[in-house]
Amino acid sequence: MLLELNNIFKWVTQGGNRIFLLKDINLKVEEGEFISIMGPSGSGKSTLLNVIGMLDNFQEGEYNFLGESVHAMKEKNRSKLYKVYIGFVFQAYHLIDELTVYENIETPLLYKNVKSAERKALVADMLDRFNIVGKKDLFPSQLSGGQQQLVGVARALIAKPKLLLADEPTGNLNSKQSEEIMELFKELNQEGVTIIQATHSESNAAYGSRVLHLLDGGRNHI
Ligand SMILES: Nc1ncnc2c1ncn2[C@@H]1O[C@H](COP(=O)(O)OP(=O)(O)O)[C@@H](O)[C@H]1O
Ligand SMILES: [Mg+2]
Repeated sequence: MLLELNNIFKWVTQGGNRIFLLKDINLKVEEGEFISIMGPSGSGKSTLLNVIGMLDNFQEGEYNFLGESVHAMKEKNRSKLYKVYIGFVFQAYHLIDELTVYENIETPLLYKNVKSAERKALVADMLDRFNIVGKKDLFPSQLSGGQQQLVGVARALIAKPKLLLADEPTGNLNSKQSEEIMELFKELNQEGVTIIQATHSESNAAYGSRVLHLLDGGRNHI
């Protein structure tokens, strides 16, 4: 088992009322799965991914990741776990505008204190694999959306995460670019990376092996 969510509730309080963003979410994910989260806008897909990705907290419930109790963990240890095991791809890429393609991809390795020679080798491999060697000195604004998302995926993968989380990764891409990203995800999954993506697209969801339907923050049990 890679991770397990048990009875997760997340809410915010507004005017004395609780507004539930996640309501009694239960989910088990085995290593090697490729899961798609679908649901209407506002149903909590991003919130759920952020909770799984340890970027957001929650009020109630248990979250176990590789046998560790995330719900009981201090922020510092949670962020360590995130750095080692999780890569995140965002719809709007979230690249750093002031850094080149090369530097953007290298960033997670700096956080992990990987030595310079190894960083160089790892980034070179990534550039090569994604066919963006020629773009390495460009800035994000000089790339197409599809190329920016390739950089986003490369950055998410550079530290060899076990779990790749992707929040509508093709939301800003045309159909050809979307297909390229999904084919890449399929390949990564075959290499053993566990993937959880939020998507509006039936054809994207079909790349996965399981679909979760979210409605108003509570998953329909399937
Ligand atoms: N910090 C917050 N405070 C209040 N409401 C929030 C907050 N974060 C998210 N929401 C609301 O929670 C719901 C779920 O949001 P989200 O997870 O972004 O949905 P999705 O990704 O499925 O579109 C939405 O109605 C959103 O407006
Ligand atoms: Mg969303």
